[in-house]
Amino acid sequence: MLQSYIYLHVLLSFLTLLHHVQCSSSQAPVPKYQPLPPLREQALLQDTWTRERLSIVPSILKKWGVDAWLMSQREYAEDTVFWSLKPATSFSARRRTVILFLAEPLPGLSSHLYSWIDNTPLVWEELSALLELHDPTKIAVNADDEISFSSGMHAGEMALVREKLGKELAGRLVVEKMVAVEVVATMVEGKLGWYRKLQETAWAMISEAFSEDVIEPGRTSTEDIEWWLREKILQMNYSTWFHPSVNILGPKPLFESPPSGKSNVINYGDLLHVDFGVTALGMNTDTQHMAYVLYPGETESDIPQGYLDGLKKANRLQDIVKSNMKIGLTGNQILKSSLKQMRSEGIEGKVYSHPIGDWGHSAGSLIGMTNMQDKVPVLGDLPLLKNTYYSVELTAEHFVPEINATMNFYLEEDVYWIEDEKRWEWVWGRQEKFHLIHSRAGQGFRVQNAG
Ligand SMILES: *[C@@H]1O[C@H](CO)[C@@H](O)[C@H](O)[C@H]1NC(C)=O
Ligand SMILES: *[C@@H]1O[C@H](CO)[C@@H](O)[C@H](O)[C@H]1NC(C)=O
Repeated sequence: MLQSYIYLHVLLSFLTLLHHVQCSSSQAPVPKYQPLPPLREQALLQDTWTRERLSIVPSILKKWGVDAWLMSQREYAEDTVFWSLKPATSFSARRRTVILFLAEPLPGLSSHLYSWIDNTPLVWEELSALLELHDPTKIAVNADDEISFSSGMHAGEMALVREKLGKELAGRLVVEKMVAVEVVATMVEGKLGWYRKLQETAWAMISEAFSEDVIEPGRTSTEDIEWWLREKILQMNYSTWFHPSVNILGPKPLFESPPSGKSNVINYGDLLHVDFGVTALGMNTDTQHMAYVLYPGETESDIPQGYLDGLKKANRLQDIVKSNMKIGLTGNQILKSSLKQMRSEGIEGKVYSHPIGDWGHSAGSLIGMTNMQDKVPVLGDLPLLKNTYYSVELTAEHFVPEINATMNFYLEEDVYWIEDEKRWEWVWGRQEKFHLIHSRAGQGFRVQNAG
């Protein structure tokens, strides 16, 4: 999803020739709709994944040098991390819900995890007793001032925790932002099979939306397709994390102006764009594809060459970003090296890639934002973590002779980390061919294209 419409600096666009376009064979097979299992089975799946995540928390505490991690929250005022740890059948925190993780429990006390759901002072007595017994030097709390995932402790709750723990224990509270970030970011291995199915379903929805089954040139509007997608998500018993956006692409970049809310009627020869994601099983996807509306009687070979070349350029930029995403580097370092390589290959464009998973814009380092192509403060300085999912989101500029203008070619696909091969791979595939809207027999006639 495009994160920002603030446009700080307009990049000068140079007509650049692409010297080499790498051919790739990762075009995905035809995507099929993947129905979800019954709710009861979904809960079992999610709880299995959550148990695995809970089991790795102690190692994350050790990695970031803290001895314990304390969360305290009330019903409807949950810590952001609560949503990544809760049982599938929990819909909110209850009463006061306190969670304590220990990096290393005392010998004989095997539990790394204690939790309370209470509305009496007993919870504070037991918590203090446990902390005194284990004597942690550093107790992490989610009270960061910048990062959502590490700042979920509500202000009133934080004040109360300090008071109830007493001066001595409260003095050991620390903020270690990477604890919450890594816990939320880590996608346990078992999730991938279903993440792929979610991604395939998102592709199937886009493929159907961008076809003559849904689009009738001269009648169907971009807004019609957005709502068609929303209904399709509902019919499939999925949900989403943002309203889909469908656009007719022209020379003006999408992030230069906010969405007008205007409904535009689609015509022959239009280049279409969609920004679309689905949500299911506690996971989210984010995809941007493009489609071309063929004139009656036209075939794939009639797509303007300038559009084909623009798509290839954007594909090349995807390869560049994906290969620069080295574990341990910061998002800002990856942004810098990606843009440097991009320009050295004669491409102009923007990179604004983000972690995805439990949230659409999930925990982890950002690789650029639409309005920040030098560096992203704070979030861009975090290290890139393995075992996470990322949305490789970007745009490449290309001069399209057929319309005598430079256009942006927007693509977005999700990737996952393959630890054995130490590389990222597309979750389902990536777009290398335009979706095509063919005209039905007898529908319309060729009108002269301006330009
Ligand atoms: C959606 O859920 C309903 C109710 O359980 C079910 O009847 C229907 O088959 C489901 N649809 C799909 C596409 O999974
Ligand atoms: C192309 O656009 C430029 C400026 O944007 C203009 O000067 C030129 O005349 C146009 N060429 C054609 C063939 O329309």
